[in-house]
Amino acid sequence: MVAYNENRYFWTINKHPMILLIGASGLLGSSIGQTLQEKKIPFVAAGRNENKLLKAYKNPPPFRALDLFKPTNLETALDGIDKIIVSTHALFGTGKTDSSKLDRDGIIALINYAKTKNIANFILVSVHGAANKHPVDFYENKFFSETALVNSGIPYTILQPTAFMELHIGELFGKRLILKGKAKILGKGESVNNYVSVKDLADVIAHLILDKPKNQRIEIGGPDNMSKKQIANIYAKHLLIEPKISYIPITILKLMSNLLYPFHKGISRVIKMTIHNDSYSNAMHNLQLFEKYSIQPMSTEKFIELHIKSVRKVI
Ligand SMILES: NC(=O)c1ccc[n+]([C@@H]2O[C@H](COP(=O)([O-])OP(=O)(O)OC[C@H]3O[C@@H](n4cnc5c(N)ncnc54)[C@H](OP(=O)(O)O)[C@@H]3O)[C@@H](O)[C@H]2O)c1
Repeated sequence: MVAYNENRYFWTINKHPMILLIGASGLLGSSIGQTLQEKKIPFVAAGRNENKLLKAYKNPPPFRALDLFKPTNLETALDGIDKIIVSTHALFGTGKTDSSKLDRDGIIALINYAKTKNIANFILVSVHGAANKHPVDFYENKFFSETALVNSGIPYTILQPTAFMELHIGELFGKRLILKGKAKILGKGESVNNYVSVKDLADVIAHLILDKPKNQRIEIGGPDNMSKKQIANIYAKHLLIEPKISYIPITILKLMSNLLYPFHKGISRVIKMTIHNDSYSNAMHNLQLFEKYSIQPMSTEKFIELHIKSVRKVI
């Protein structure tokens, strides 16, 4: 039983573990929040920007201010909290908001504070490929925060998802194909990557937060591995078009990344990440959590069919 007061800041809970969702306004975070609401699992949202949260929910959850770039209010944010879900990143960040300040230092500060509390379940959303000495600093920052959680003694699950379909297939690639019949491929578009739907991930996380954590680091992705060229072909098949595809060569991307580095480390980093993903296969197959919770993960083709319908309906 949960009761919120009028301004949504206070609540009373009877025998329900209190969940804190950090990053509740983001692409994945809002999907996690909405899934928790559908399942009537109470939670509190924490983040920097309450307005963003209000826009992301029909019925916005209670909110606590927390900026992981300067984690000074951890005490109030974690007051009475039993379980934590973290779905944040600063991939595009630069200077004071650099990835290292959130994805490494901010999360490590959160974990260090959480160690002093009696946290029963800590779910950290990391990234597929997080590794020490990775050529892209973002993956290394994620690796350091993962390591801090593993060594913390807090019961945890670390999820390492592949790229999100909604963003990397839909918004950044397919939308232009639907609206203009055109697509831009950064690199050759031949290396194979894995994509997963945020809806499916949110569903898994809503199960994991109720389960006893097994202290695991788990890679998670969708059922298909595909190149950008293959994805363009699926759109073309469903749109009945001959798509116009242009390419930005790797040499130009490398030049852009290097030139931008002194001015905006975040954009330089994202270009470097694109080069990396175009040069190496990120194929993977691990449906263990979907199978465990009887979730049928979205296939790439199904996602594209639905995406075309939703964009056309909006027009
Ligand atoms: N996008 C992908 O394809 C992808 C693939 C694999 C893994 N992931 C991982 O999945 C997670 C979620 O990604 P996403 O794409 O859903 O991110 P997103 O849409 O950019 O959302 C990020 C969230 O983090 C919050 N945030 C940012 N800086 C913060 C700070 N200093 N303090 C507190 N909260 C902060 C943002 O809220 P405010 O801006 O209001 O603070 C927002 O709610 C991340 O761990 C990411 O690395 C993403």
